Amino acid sequence: MAHELPNLPYAHDALEPHIDKATMEIHHGRHHKAYVDNLNKAITGNAGLEGKSLDALIGDLAGVPDSIRGAVRNNGGGHWNHSLFWNLMAPKAGGAPTGAVADALKAAFGSFTDFQAKFENAGMTRFGSGWAWLVVSGGKLEIVSTANQDNPLMGKAVAGCEGRPLLGVDVWEHAYYLKYQNKRADYLKAFWNVVNWDQVAKLFAAAK
Ligand SMILES: [Fe+2]
Repeated sequence: MAHELPNLPYAHDALEPHIDKATMEIHHGRHHKAYVDNLNKAITGNAGLEGKSLDALIGDLAGVPDSIRGAVRNNGGGHWNHSLFWNLMAPKAGGAPTGAVADALKAAFGSFTDFQAKFENAGMTRFGSGWAWLVVSGGKLEIVSTANQDNPLMGKAVAGCEGRPLLGVDVWEHAYYLKYQNKRADYLKAFWNVVNWDQVAKLFAAAK
């Protein structure tokens, strides 16, 4: 079964004014689509890899032949990261989390505000393209970042960090440049207005 581009769970303009329609159209319809297409291109003809789930593929890059490992890392990671990202945002969302996520963030980072500052800092200090993440690692919440389309599930040896993502923000310029130009900090601040904490809560419950 070839990998497929998932539908956006809302309209392209649903996250306005925080994330603009044109960015969503290009980001989902062209960038994410290209990751899916190029992942399929890379693994076509390799029956073992064609039968693997996306999680299993990016979680075991050592099991991918040298000749296509880079393509699977970049495009499999890109497909995984964006598939998560669309569901981490929602219209009429944002604000502060409640329940178990709120308690865990407070326990790990002191307060929700402190968590936000550390998460934004992870996004700001990722030089070039990549992602900032909130992950569960060894039962603990941590903030990490990865370069390019790497993902903590790829493991420390590949991605420089590990854990299961609960929240992630895309800091590639393609995620914000049309509306925010070089102002990544403004984009990261705006992101809080669209965070789908219900989805984060589901991922947190599943990771426990
Ligand atoms: Fe992206």
